[in-house]
Amino acid sequence: SSTGATVTVHADTPGPTYDRRIFTQFAEHLGNGIYGGLWVGEKSKIPNVRGFRTDVVTALRGIGVPVVRWPGGCFADEYHWREGIGPKTKRPVKINTHWGGVTEPNTVGTHEFMDLVGQIGAEPYIAGNVGNGTPQEMAEWVEYMTSPAGTLADERAKNGHKAPWAVPYFGVGNELWGCGGNMRAEYAADVTRRYATFIKAPKDTRVMKIASGANNDDYNWTETMARELVGKVDALSLHYYTVPGGWPPRASATVFDERGWAETLSETLKMDELITKHSAIMDKVDPKKTMWLAVDEWGTWYAGDPGTNPGFLRQQNTLRDALVTAINLNIFAKHADRVKMTAIAQMVNVLQAMILTDGSKMVLTPTYHVFAMYKPYMDGTVLPIDIKSPWYNKDQWTMPSVSASAVRGKDGVVRIALSNLDPNKPTSVSAALPGVTAQTVTGQVLTAPTMTALNTFEAPNAVAPKAFNGANLSGGTLSVTLPPMSVVMLELK
Ligand code: AHR
Repeated sequence: SSTGATVTVHADTPGPTYDRRIFTQFAEHLGNGIYGGLWVGEKSKIPNVRGFRTDVVTALRGIGVPVVRWPGGCFADEYHWREGIGPKTKRPVKINTHWGGVTEPNTVGTHEFMDLVGQIGAEPYIAGNVGNGTPQEMAEWVEYMTSPAGTLADERAKNGHKAPWAVPYFGVGNELWGCGGNMRAEYAADVTRRYATFIKAPKDTRVMKIASGANNDDYNWTETMARELVGKVDALSLHYYTVPGGWPPRASATVFDERGWAETLSETLKMDELITKHSAIMDKVDPKKTMWLAVDEWGTWYAGDPGTNPGFLRQQNTLRDALVTAINLNIFAKHADRVKMTAIAQMVNVLQAMILTDGSKMVLTPTYHVFAMYKPYMDGTVLPIDIKSPWYNKDQWTMPSVSASAVRGKDGVVRIALSNLDPNKPTSVSAALPGVTAQTVTGQVLTAPTMTALNTFEAPNAVAPKAFNGANLSGGTLSVTLPPMSVVMLELK
């Protein structure tokens, strides 16, 4: 109809790969992100494998988590790896100064984390300590993990792991402009050059270095870091959170009206402008895009749930968060030539989590389900997409009502993701599909009767994907009716 959206999916001019590492997860020593959420200990009544809870690991396997970033975040720049190896009872108990001032038992250290990623089937992304650690400490950590021989390799073997681990990704500090040391960009660039010099991989292996990038729209940071680090690191990061109501986070995760809906989605859409501008700056010194952009912290950040420790960043997750996820995953498709990795914050029990736990209970969030719906995008080919959408307006917030992306999966199947941001009315979409030969369309939809719908331990399936029958494919044209506030993933076969 004339009020609907028109879309063209250019399957005849395929774009870059939608890198599986766009689905990277972040697990910090923060609140119950590790302790309680992943780690319960070998002696727990909660079923576990060598201390890691089976229910959570199984769920994470279900979304094919490719990479996990650990141990922080801000925690990383105060973390001393030697405190997390050897007999658990001998490890020092520290104070987690960033996150709630609680004790950090160091029970989960390098060996345990490597076991965890093995159980999940993911690769490790280790975040090193630039803030209050030395280049020597960092270099020795890398050697301890990766070296086939030598004193540190012997120590690793004595601690239970003879074979070296692969460490494909290593972060050279985190948020060096803030909790990682309050550095100026010029100083951070020099410090990163120095530390990165001593991160060395054994013969025939590779440790890719990810430098601490900008916060939000700090373009000066990217300009300086990109200029000084091109050719010296593999990636530059970017952190951008959706924070409705402004900083510090104060908005409720679950109690909001249409204004809270519109503001949150509109704030999320800024990711497109941020990546566009940071990429353009990188293009000036790196036109061949050898250095990728790793958006290694993104997602919603609300006030903590009532009754929880504010330092634990524990927040519920609603249908609104599902839309935030889809919008970001669609934006990453548009920038897949530069964006090779992103990490939502965080995997379990912290900020926009996949999974929430309480004791032995576990629930999958709406965000988890969107990750599951987009999973077949992993390592597929982005199909460029043009969208002409009607607008959704609420007070000062105005945005296209349709967010979309398309990927030809490794299985050859064309998938089109369409979200309707308008909470009040359905939106029809008419799509031209040059280069698509498929005859049938099927799909899944994630929606709910109310925008604040969420999953609880008592009602865990209130927001879950269902079969979608609102799409038709005939004569090479796709016609779709998107329900209000919905995330849809179509498969063309
Ligand atoms: O994800 C929570 C915190 O947000 C991280 O520790 C830090 O890097 C960022 O400021």
